[in-house]
Amino acid sequence: MKYNIAVISGDGIGPEVINETVKVLNLIGERSGNRFDYKYLLAGGCAIDKLGTPLPEETLDECKKSDAVLLGAVGGPKWDDPEAKIRPEQALLGLRGGLGLYCNLRPAILYAPLKDASPLKESIIGDGIDILVVRELTGGIYFGERGRCSDNGVPAAYDTEKYNEDEVRRIAKIGFESAMKRKKKVTSVDKANILESSRLWRKVIEEVAKDYPEVEVNHLYIDNTAMQLVRDPKQFDVIVTSNMFGDILSDEASMITGSIGMLPSASLGENSFGMYEPIHGSAPDIAGKGIANPLATILSGAMMLRNSFNLEDEAKLIEKAVQEVLEEGYRTGDIMSEGMKLVGTEEMGKLVMNKIEKGM
Ligand code: IPM
Ligand code: MG
Repeated sequence: MKYNIAVISGDGIGPEVINETVKVLNLIGERSGNRFDYKYLLAGGCAIDKLGTPLPEETLDECKKSDAVLLGAVGGPKWDDPEAKIRPEQALLGLRGGLGLYCNLRPAILYAPLKDASPLKESIIGDGIDILVVRELTGGIYFGERGRCSDNGVPAAYDTEKYNEDEVRRIAKIGFESAMKRKKKVTSVDKANILESSRLWRKVIEEVAKDYPEVEVNHLYIDNTAMQLVRDPKQFDVIVTSNMFGDILSDEASMITGSIGMLPSASLGENSFGMYEPIHGSAPDIAGKGIANPLATILSGAMMLRNSFNLEDEAKLIEKAVQEVLEEGYRTGDIMSEGMKLVGTEEMGKLVMNKIEKGM
């Protein structure tokens, strides 16, 4: 089969980690008889610099025509002025909204060879952490009405959290479907003791839960969840939550795995189309030095093969290769620990490719 991939390298370390991922995909393509064609597109800070807009129309149009989008990272201090009207992050929201990607899957897995990298005690980690955060991505406060106003002459500002039942239902379904393939437990996170939108959220989750009698469901408040994630992360299987709570919890979940440079993500819509990107940012401090960890992006490539192209075996092959390279002690700087072998971006990519070649 032939697949068209829209590639947004973006800013900072984006181009470096994307390079390695494209090489890995090419190898997979060659060996599995599939062909991946790439169209490189501008978005983020580099697009602001070149075209004055974070998300050029051509980029969105080409993404719509593609079978999947692979994204590196956007943003950096250069464009970080809080007063700026044009910001790189707008590219992400524009892509998510414009492509209808309402579901964000963020697996937080603690890789056994990286146990030492977790800030949590061994007694809490046990035999590992494997949580899937299912974050609603095109609704809530990120997309609600916002503005500036005046409170009796005092300058004020507001943002609004709004969800309709259909929006909650479709993300809830993905949460339950995901749980069916895992440990059959869903934790829905809200702030229903305060927020009306959360009470609606909870009601819909309860309705959807009826269709999945095998799945154990519980509801937690966001503040409690933030605490439980560090107190006892093993209680979680699938976490389903709103856009902003998911943003916060997925950072926390990634941190407890100790390896934000390792974690991929998938943003999905109605059909098999999706956008795949590492969870980490553009890391401007190490950009251009050839030392960034490409594994989160390479693993995002695996998620793309699985979710958009239905190439499960090939996805597994990448994941297994990454696991083996870690087991052999190879580390980029971000996950380095004593006694391990320090490698750069390209070398890490090459190591993964060697393993893939042996596995095919
Ligand atoms: C994320 C990021 C984005 C978000 C920012 C960069 C807009 O934090 O993908 O989690 O808040 O969604
Ligand atoms: Mg975030």
